[in-house]
Amino acid sequence: DLVEKLTRQRREFNYVESKVPTYTLPDPLVSRDGSRVRSPKEWNDSRRGEILDLFRDQVYGRRPDTEYSLRFEQTAEETQAFDGSATGREMKAIIEIGDRSFSFPFVVFLLNNAPGPTPAVIHINNRYFVPLATALEKSDPFWPVEMFIDRGYATASFHTSHVDPDKKDGYAEGIRSFFADGDPPDDTAWRSLSAWGWAASRVLDHLETIDSIDASRVAVSGHSRGGKTSLWAACEDERFAIAYSNNSGCGGAALSRRAYGETVERITSSFPHWFCKPFSDFAGREHELPVDQHEVIALIAPRGVYVASADEDLWADPKGEYASIVAAAPVFERLGKQSIQTPVMPPLGQQRMDGQTGYHIRSGGHGLGELDWGLFLDFADTLLK
Ligand code: GCU
Repeated sequence: DLVEKLTRQRREFNYVESKVPTYTLPDPLVSRDGSRVRSPKEWNDSRRGEILDLFRDQVYGRRPDTEYSLRFEQTAEETQAFDGSATGREMKAIIEIGDRSFSFPFVVFLLNNAPGPTPAVIHINNRYFVPLATALEKSDPFWPVEMFIDRGYATASFHTSHVDPDKKDGYAEGIRSFFADGDPPDDTAWRSLSAWGWAASRVLDHLETIDSIDASRVAVSGHSRGGKTSLWAACEDERFAIAYSNNSGCGGAALSRRAYGETVERITSSFPHWFCKPFSDFAGREHELPVDQHEVIALIAPRGVYVASADEDLWADPKGEYASIVAAAPVFERLGKQSIQTPVMPPLGQQRMDGQTGYHIRSGGHGLGELDWGLFLDFADTLLK
């Protein structure tokens, strides 16, 4: 009825700071049984797994444990890209279960003349697929290949919808349906964000086979829905050395409990294929969530995490994105690592890097461009070089 509709609309988004509820975040260092995590061993052996399970069951869903085989096929190659400094390849990842198969394309660029194995960045492209020919033809600020090469990084990218279509009714064509052999997903099965992150791990599987890449120094990146994905990808796969989360907002770096900008109510109704069913039950009851998004960052510790915001992108709640990093700091500290602890955000356009975490807020709206990438690579230089 009308009252219900109005109440729901009020819970869909908020742009007024004074309306942010007062909240207490779950303490990542207090275990379910109430005991305090005192050592890296206690974190690694039990507490980290507890939090990971909570996110799987309540937020992103659980990946299948069905066995599959994986192989890669090269479909195009240019060995003299960018004046001979790089080799570009278009690849296909082929996943097989019994006699059924599923594939998705990706593109990878390697340095030709590096003195040794290089670090790399896997970019989750939520907007479009960039075929090899296109990447060679014109530069794209959303995935600036030549910039990576110039700065000594290999890079790879794929398009999310090739893995799991980014639409409410795309299930049948995606990898999740492939794994389930067409059966509908149960309430806590993985959803699209997790499926896209899974694909980033398969691209990493490929990079592990390339001699000129050092697979222990690979970052995963994404913008917006891709930035929610990159964080979760690094939680599920501890091989990623850094996660970059650009303008990721609700369900990404932003604290759900602030309910500022996009809320759980709104995101789970607009994008029901992104999160597992239980997350939607916390619409308007964010304070009851057993986790919050600072713990996604904590799950990536002691590895690197970088969050970026834009001052006009209030939908993504820059304040809540920054607050997550600070709230994760006790976990980095417990693991013997330094990270950003300063509660006050850095000034507009200024980058803050402290140990394992980095942050900047750029002026302008929702988006990802060369300015962001330059700062991302500055951070990567401190951890991966
Ligand atoms: C929508 C959505 C956001 C998402 C964004 C994007 O605005 O509400 O959660 O981050 O799309 O992916 O660009």
